[in-house]
Amino acid sequence: MSIRIARIAVLAALSLAGAAGAASAQTPPPAPPAPPAPPANAPVPYVMGMGDLMNTLIQPRHTKLGLAGKAENWPLANYALSQLRQGFAGIAKAVPKFRGMPVGDLVDLALTQPLNAVEAAVKQQDAQKFAAAYDQLSQGCNACHMELDHPYVVIKTPDASAFPDQEFKPQR
Ligand code: HEC
Repeated sequence: MSIRIARIAVLAALSLAGAAGAASAQTPPPAPPAPPAPPANAPVPYVMGMGDLMNTLIQPRHTKLGLAGKAENWPLANYALSQLRQGFAGIAKAVPKFRGMPVGDLVDLALTQPLNAVEAAVKQQDAQKFAAAYDQLSQGCNACHMELDHPYVVIKTPDASAFPDQEFKPQR
């Protein structure tokens, strides 16, 4: 009789302890209040993808670099070149990977050498060297387009200005 009571007491103590342990393990910290749901028509920030960045940051600067170099406007070419470099630096941060491929590494591989060749031609104010280096640069663009499954995006030296409101001839 007294043995049975003792067993029941032990069992009760164990199950209480178990319940307390389980309860303390399962009690989540109080949840922070949920933010109010945005209204259905709230504006959603637009995140620029690779195609957007190419069209807005890269293509116009590549074009302007070509037009400035053709016009032998070396200060403007130098400026367009640094803008183009900044554009790619920003893209490598904004889109670190495209279809699993490291964008920054691909930019370095495809463009570092031709960009440096363009820079040298601009410094030397050498129109012929510029034309050759600029063509090399465009081939670098295309190499990356091939690598990333966009072989139909073919970049070339501009044959006309896309900017009728900008002067590319050097101004004294
Ligand atoms: C890191 C690789 C890479 C390099 C380097 C690169 N591109 Fe691209 N580019 C892409 C990819 C990938 C796309 C397609 C993006 C998409 O559709 O989401 C693209 C798309 C474009 C487009 C959009 C085409 C269209 O018709 O809308 C243009 C223009 C473009 N690139 C220009 C250039 C130029 C000019 C250069 C060189 C100065 C260059 N790209 C260098 C990867 C690259």
